[in-house]
Amino acid sequence: MTATPQPPAPLDPTDWDEYRALAHRMLDESLDYLRDVRTRPTWTPTPADVKSAIHDEPLPRSGRGDAAAYDDFLRLVRPYPNGNIHPRFWGWVMGTGTPQSAMADFLSSVINPQMGGLEHAPVYVEQQVIKWFAELMRFPATASGILISGGTMANVLGLAVARRQRAGWDVRKLGVAGGPPLRVYASGEVHSWLAKACDFLGMGTDGFHRIPPRADFTADVDAMAAAIAADRDAGMQPFCIVATVGTVQTGASDDLHALADLAAREGLWLHVDGAFGAMASLADVAEAKAAVRGLERADSVAFDLHKWGYMPFDVAMLLTREDRHLTETFANRAPYLMALPGGLAPGSIYFNDRGIELTRAFRALKVWMTLRAQGSDLLGAHIARNIRQAQYLASLIEREPELELLAPVPLNLVNYRFVAPGLDSDALNALNKRILVRLQEDGIAVPSATVIRGTFSIRVAITNHRSLAEDFDLLVRETVRIGRLLSTG
Ligand SMILES: Cc1ncc(COP(=O)(O)O)c(C=O)c1O
Repeated sequence: MTATPQPPAPLDPTDWDEYRALAHRMLDESLDYLRDVRTRPTWTPTPADVKSAIHDEPLPRSGRGDAAAYDDFLRLVRPYPNGNIHPRFWGWVMGTGTPQSAMADFLSSVINPQMGGLEHAPVYVEQQVIKWFAELMRFPATASGILISGGTMANVLGLAVARRQRAGWDVRKLGVAGGPPLRVYASGEVHSWLAKACDFLGMGTDGFHRIPPRADFTADVDAMAAAIAADRDAGMQPFCIVATVGTVQTGASDDLHALADLAAREGLWLHVDGAFGAMASLADVAEAKAAVRGLERADSVAFDLHKWGYMPFDVAMLLTREDRHLTETFANRAPYLMALPGGLAPGSIYFNDRGIELTRAFRALKVWMTLRAQGSDLLGAHIARNIRQAQYLASLIEREPELELLAPVPLNLVNYRFVAPGLDSDALNALNKRILVRLQEDGIAVPSATVIRGTFSIRVAITNHRSLAEDFDLLVRETVRIGRLLSTG
């Protein structure tokens, strides 16, 4: 007689009280960690022994238990993140998150709903969050949208919608081979997602006609109009203009009214990449209003909540003016996804008809709870404060003879460098690279790098609700100190 196999140990805790104690410890220690963030270095390099402890560990066939796994996290992972929750992190464009939205992520994982669609409250939460943001972005009441992982993916979906709506043939059925070569137009300052998206969507990077920007880093609308006309003459098929609110390099915003006029004249789709900049819609200050002027005329807009919405990764949104813009681009119902006359699948809201993903996380909860608990005006006040902080930093730089501002500061980005007499431009580029690395490695602050018209720039992107004026004072002081040290040492 064969023995009855033993059931495996449960994946849920075997002793709930014991697990509850551990979970409470995790929560308490996490809150302390967040409360004390300012006392730690902005970034701490991961030591070699920690890296090897992580990547040399053989596949654990048998687990060591929840407490041991948590201790490993405390020892190997938590001390060495990239640091974006710190008040002096201003690299690339990242958000800080809040303890409240981290808790919302936890609550979302606890109920763990499937957000492809179906009939359950979480779907109505996402729908409501989309409605609120459509109102904030001054989109019409008919607007629709979807939450997705990030600005890149929201923009990729937006470009796919534009192509479906404006290619002039059935791209979904025939693909790009169904007509002449497709072309999308944007300023050279557009983020690198666009070239990647053209490649990914089968149009090739040549599908993106890059228009050299104007001196203020905004789109040159006349040059774009000429390029569209020339491409039409050459037998190409223009279908979309991509405008940016808040460019990744300098925070410049394109003239949306002029681009909307051009798109309307040419029968093109106007998609706006507002990854961080569209969030300026929440702020009641002149610079913010100027950045988003004309946004209400866009056909679609993509933006992140995990950047200037201060929510934890990852969450972004794509809005279109009508639901059919999304469903005509993405819906594809298989029999196993059919709507039924009632029950859990009545077919009311199906997010998987509005995008590519079928299984989706409940990202909407942190957005919904943040808005309900704190309100969009408070987020807007922090966005306005970040804009003032960028102006404050620019004023410190302008007052400091050894520092040079490298671009105008229309929004929340500041580009600058240290200058020392007698050094040519190559030497200055090399020196500023070393200054930046030193600022990061010493845990002082984390700006990142870019190149502004051939000049290496220390770039400060302020989407951080924890930064204070004194943090920018310190950055300027330390840049000058390190700059002097490295240029004389
Ligand atoms: C203007 C702009 N567009 C798109 C993106 C990409 O967004 P994500 O990093 O969320 O994919 C960024 C990222 O910084 C950005 O600044």
